[in-house]
Amino acid sequence: MSIGIRPLHPDFIGEVSGIDISAPLTAEQVAAVEAGMDRYAVLVFRDQPLTDEQQCAFSRNFGELEATLISQMSKPSERRLGSVEMDDISNLDASGKLRGRDDKRRMYSLGNRLWHSDASFRAIGAGYSLLSARVVPSVGGNTEFADMRAAYDALDDATKGEIEDLVTEHSIAFSRAELGFDDYGEDNADKIRPVRHRLVRTHPVTGRKSLYLSAHIGGIVGWPVPEARAFIRDLTEHATQPRFTHAHQWRVNDLVMWDNRTTMHRARRYRDLQDVRDLRRTSIKGAGPTAEQLPVLAAE
Ligand code: OGA
Ligand code: MN
Repeated sequence: MSIGIRPLHPDFIGEVSGIDISAPLTAEQVAAVEAGMDRYAVLVFRDQPLTDEQQCAFSRNFGELEATLISQMSKPSERRLGSVEMDDISNLDASGKLRGRDDKRRMYSLGNRLWHSDASFRAIGAGYSLLSARVVPSVGGNTEFADMRAAYDALDDATKGEIEDLVTEHSIAFSRAELGFDDYGEDNADKIRPVRHRLVRTHPVTGRKSLYLSAHIGGIVGWPVPEARAFIRDLTEHATQPRFTHAHQWRVNDLVMWDNRTTMHRARRYRDLQDVRDLRRTSIKGAGPTAEQLPVLAAE
């Protein structure tokens, strides 16, 4: 059985066949998936029933797993899933019941409805994220992806020149404030401090440039805040035009893997007070800070 990849969009997103990701992979298979990620930025694997352990094992082929912010901020008794490396992207509480309308964690999770790149609020943002669907709602709840390489390529030369060396500030507090959420608890002040990233990043393998945009951006270094936010809005609007995006409609046992360095994504609405949606995510630590690509700032 050899791996095949069928494009689902002219620029990005491939559907992978010829692989069982619940079993250990050969070095050739890992290399083929990585090459697919370099080319397509998002890969869809259908009909892959996984346990949490198998999802972690598959994910570890691509690097070290990251403990997610929300699991770091919650007590073990508040977690439904055993491992802090499994991010619970569901509408269920620790006892497996649907979360209520005013549930704090539900409100925090609504931030996923804004276009973002995972963990861009960390000094080293996430590399790949891998999301596995265990239960899906009957209506809604798609995940949309946007190709930040194609969005960069489509900018005019003057804009490319203007943004080349810009550095942005990201914090989870910025994206949550957009929705009016600010309840982090006193112990978590260190986790919401802004970090800096380059706005234009270069893929380490392909050399392609992309826009590193995210709902977590609240400023541009050296710019007045309103001007920065208005500009980031313009760029986000440009980068999420339908021609750069693709909607993934979930089926049970799908695993979708995306590169946070070159794409953004967002969750779409569903009837979360009625329908169960149980998705589970693992993320791979990014390789290094984007500010390293900018010697002047790295030396600051
Ligand atoms: C995520 C995420 C979107 C969704 O898991 O990082 O943003 O559709 N999920 O649940
Ligand atoms: Mn996300």
